[in-house]
Amino acid sequence: MSKPQIKLYFKNVMAEVIGDEHGVTDRQFAELSARVEPLIPVVAGEIIGRNRHPDITRTVYGTLPANKDIAAGVLKLVGELKARCDNLVVLGIGGSALGNIAVQTALNPYMYNLSQEQRGDNPRIFVFDNVDPDQFGSFLKDIENQLDRTIFNFISKSGRTPETAAQFLVIRDLLDKRGPQYLADHVVITTGFETDAGGPTSTLYRIAKAARPTLPLLEVPQDVGGRFTVLSAVGLFSAAMCGIDINSMLAGARDMYSRVTCSDFKNNPAAINAAINYHFYNCGKRNSVIMPYSYALKDMADWYRQLWAESLGKKVNLAGQEVWVGPTPVKALGVTDQHSQVQLYREGPNDKLFTFLQVEGFDREDLVMGPVPECAPELDYLAGKRMSELLNDEKKATEYALLNDERPCLTVHFDEISAYTVGQFILLYEATTSFVGALFDIDPYNQPAVELGKDATFALMGKTGDYTSDCTYKQFEEEIHAKTDFDEDYLV
Ligand code: PA5
Repeated sequence: MSKPQIKLYFKNVMAEVIGDEHGVTDRQFAELSARVEPLIPVVAGEIIGRNRHPDITRTVYGTLPANKDIAAGVLKLVGELKARCDNLVVLGIGGSALGNIAVQTALNPYMYNLSQEQRGDNPRIFVFDNVDPDQFGSFLKDIENQLDRTIFNFISKSGRTPETAAQFLVIRDLLDKRGPQYLADHVVITTGFETDAGGPTSTLYRIAKAARPTLPLLEVPQDVGGRFTVLSAVGLFSAAMCGIDINSMLAGARDMYSRVTCSDFKNNPAAINAAINYHFYNCGKRNSVIMPYSYALKDMADWYRQLWAESLGKKVNLAGQEVWVGPTPVKALGVTDQHSQVQLYREGPNDKLFTFLQVEGFDREDLVMGPVPECAPELDYLAGKRMSELLNDEKKATEYALLNDERPCLTVHFDEISAYTVGQFILLYEATTSFVGALFDIDPYNQPAVELGKDATFALMGKTGDYTSDCTYKQFEEEIHAKTDFDEDYLV
């Protein structure tokens, strides 16, 4: 029996549907094909480590789907921990959290955390990617009495990210107050194993080693950038703890790997997706709206937003020229945002490319609408219909309305939402990002613009010593205060 698939549908970006002014003409499509097809072997090589430029590193996410050792190590640890875990708390940020959230929302039921019946033997899961004391404090108050059956999974590739470090120090204090063994028994650390002349660069790695032999340590592969790590221990551990079939997810990713490395442009969904996104960006449609018609896929849109923004928003290209490129990723949710955003999407500027996520089979939970009360015959059109039919018809209706206004629309069609198709989706979008990066001639695997804000946080939080060769952290802190402290004259 053939496996469920996801497929990219791109007719509704073409000029034959939305006209020559806004659509892709056949000639343009042929030009895109000629431009992108030669990049296929380049990107296929890059994602397994044959990098297209010496400055590019951390590219090899393409090796993860076939890596049996990672999944085996994760499943072994899950086997050891699961029986004593009612609550799994994941702590990380950016690429160390968004994939975990997306996979859970996609593959576990909506009421997973609240319903023992729906959760079965799996632990509840909570993912914290913030340092908001209201949120975290309220959670800790609730969990304090359940620490004996709680596992905290700290995830940080660098092992030095301030937000995750702050969360760690709070939890460590809590656990240490319970007893000397609590930290080692209730924490799993997922971090990079990188070393330099001074030894391991990750603070979390050193902490884990010091707390050995019992504190489990999982590796974030050194050669994979944070936001491309969901198919490593970063995303697989929490998924497997919560009953998700990670081998099926990896199998789906392997299936998509063969499709995104296919040398024939017209059979390569990532190459076509990237070509279309690149084309519209260059035509002034610089906003890329992703709109799942599935609540389960809503956090995939969040994951995509980070992947797209951090990877493609770049000041310089690989030749060192200033380019200031990057489509702005926007997430919307069908049908909810039909009553919030669609007015703008239709009558506002025609500066967006829309990508719908559409699911064929809602077999996990479908609902049938009941009979209509006698006094409301106008509701007859709904009676006896499935809710999934309404949801998917509304997708079509919205798409039709957008097409009427010459707005380009892509659809990623899911046969079903399962670990297999989610694995496919992850690899499709990772590879699409690599293709767009290659088209922009940028490094999609770094995020240099994030550094200044991080350094400024260090300065404001009292880090001492030299920031640069001619500026101490103290001086840097004063400079930041001068620009960001409220000036009463402007406060109304
Ligand atoms: O994609 C990335 O590299 C970033 O978004 C990181 O995932 C994020 O900054 C967190 O970094 P770390 O895992 O080192 O704590």
